[in-house]
Parts: sequence; structure tokens; C-alpha cells
Amino acid sequence: MRIGVLASGGGTNLQAIIDACAGGGIQGQVALVVSNNSAAGAFDRARKAGIPTLHASTATHPDPADLDGAILDALTESGVDLIALAGYMKKLGPMTLAAYKNKTVNIHPALLPDFGGRGMYGMAVHRAVIASGVEVTGPTVHLVTDEYDDGPILAQEEVPVLPGDTPESLQQRVLEVEHRVYPATIDAFDRGLIAIHEGSPDTVIRPLCITKDYDAAVSVIRSAFRTPAQRFNITRENCPTHPSFTDRNRLSEIRSKGGVFFGAYRQSRMIGCVAVEPSRDEAGTWYLEKLAVPPDYRLTGLGSLLLDHACRAAGSYGGERISIGLIDADEVLKGWYRRRGFSETGTRTFSHLPFTVCFMNREMT
Ligand code: GRF
Repeated sequence: MRIGVLASGGGTNLQAIIDACAGGGIQGQVALVVSNNSAAGAFDRARKAGIPTLHASTATHPDPADLDGAILDALTESGVDLIALAGYMKKLGPMTLAAYKNKTVNIHPALLPDFGGRGMYGMAVHRAVIASGVEVTGPTVHLVTDEYDDGPILAQEEVPVLPGDTPESLQQRVLEVEHRVYPATIDAFDRGLIAIHEGSPDTVIRPLCITKDYDAAVSVIRSAFRTPAQRFNITRENCPTHPSFTDRNRLSEIRSKGGVFFGAYRQSRMIGCVAVEPSRDEAGTWYLEKLAVPPDYRLTGLGSLLLDHACRAAGSYGGERISIGLIDADEVLKGWYRRRGFSETGTRTFSHLPFTVCFMNREMT
């Protein structure tokens, strides 16, 4: 992957991306650094790393369309696949935005959608966070659209606001996390662990990140699994572990076993989710868990998107096959998985479950 970084300031995030490329955290390279500020520290970092630079601003290109065109030409001539804004204080021009739609990312030092928008940059963000009294902040990586800080969220991480924090101390702690989260998100995007499915509106499938994501997943899973619970007379009494009664602790259990949760988002709203978890007993086997599509979003192809995403993820973590356990009497669901390449490997009863479980596998090619 060839990355074009646009930066106006010191460029510590640029440095983190350069270092990740050099260290293998990102399979790619920074192909071009663009700045509107000829004195940007980002330029020094680029030169040190032998990366070509472009200074483009209203001083070099007074006409906004010329400026947009010059930046776009430089990016395409450098073979840039992904634009990463790293403290870039200008809006991207419409031609560049259109050419790199869904291929332009930014990092913001607060948990969007809060503390974003016009004027919310630099220390103003951290001042506003402290003044608001929130206990948690942290960076957001998001897709860039023509509105400030408005595109779909790709990753976030929570950073506690500590008693006695100043805007400066908070900025420092958030920045350290940015340097880890930004390269990791670019890598996940490159490996397809974060995927954008274009449509109207687009669907983003990405790992769940913060507490809010897990809370949304709990309600998506409960609502999706209510259908089989009703159909097969599953109650809290006869099957308390059924997904229709799940809670955040249960989702954390999957995570603590090395599982990864993904959510499908449309216009910032979670509309489905899925998890994959490595088997402890069988090397190469990953379990598909909690594939959840609530009733309003069924028959839209979302289930297949989530399934494919989960399989791709398990494959990229080294999985060789994906395995699922479902209610043996649920012929409709078994048919759905059969049509997607799964075959039955056997059935089993468990003392804590009021139904027979059918296991189905799909080999990853
Ligand atoms: C970071 O806080 C980033 O979140 C914001 O601008 C700042 C850039 O810092 N978009 P640096 O130039 O990467 O050090």
C-alpha cells in the first residue's frame, strides 16, 4: 500500500506511520508528504526518511481549484492508494475528496461524534473535554467526507481523563495512543479487517472498539436472537446463556479468549455484528459466534457480508476453517449456512442446553 500523508504541524503521527511501515506494522510505505506549511516539522521527518514532499497552499496556488488539482496530481503520480490526514489544518478539495472517496482517513484527538467539527482542533479539543467533565476521551480514526470530523468511524480507543489533568497532559496521553491506533487502523484497513461496502448509504464493517460499541452489540444480538428464541421456546430459565439474553460480560468473555468482534455500521448506527474466536482444542479452527442481523435488516445481504468478513478475518489470523454450532432443528438456518459453503460435521447434546446442537464447518481456501 502506498500512503500519502497530509500534515500541517509537527508530524508525530506521520512519524508513527513511517515507523510502522519500516517495522512491518503496515505493509506499505509513505509515498508522499504534503503540507500547506513550508515550515512543518512533518517535512523534516519526511526528508529524514527520504520521502518526497510537496508544499501546496494558497500561497503557492491562490486559486482553490488549482490547489486541489496540484495535490490530486501529486498523489496520483506518486501512486498513492490511501490518504492519511495527520494534523492537516485545511479542508481537502472536492476533486481530491472524490478521487479518494472511502480512501481518505483522519485522526481526531477525541471520541467523535463529540468534541468535533469546525474550530475543534488542537488544544481546543482537550480544553472542551476537560470543561465538559467527561471521564473518558481518546482518539478517533474516521473516513474523511466534505464535513469536518463527520465521516464514518473506523476506530476509537478510550483514554481516561484523570483528576488534575490539564489540556496539555491530556493531549500528551491521547497523542501516545494516537501513535498506536493510527498505524494499526491503517493496517486493518489494508488487510480488509475494516471494510467499506459501497451502497446508499455505505456499510462499514469494523472491529468494535469502545464500551459504547459493545453496548450497541448487546442490543443488536438480543434483538436478532429473539426470533430463534421464540421459535424454539428458549427462555431465560431453560437457557440463560442463549444470545437473546446476552450482556456485556458475556461479550467480554469472547474477547478474553482471543475472539474479535465486528460491527456493521450504516450512518453511525450498528445494524449487525459477528465475532470469531479461536478454538482451544483444534488448531486452525475458528468459531463463528453471534452472527446477528436484527429483523429490520434481514434479506438485505448483510448476513452474507458479515459472514464473509468474519471468514476473511479468521483467515488473516491464521485460521484454516470456520466452525459454527446451531440449533439442530433450525433447518432454515442450516440451509442458509449450507448455501454458503458450510457442511454438517455432527450433532451433540449439552446438559446446559435444551436443544441438540448441530456443528457445521467451512474450509478456508
Ligand atoms: C493530533 O492531535 C491529531 O489527532 C490531530 O492533529 C494532531 C496532529 O499532531 N488531527 P502531529 O502533527 O501528528 O504531532
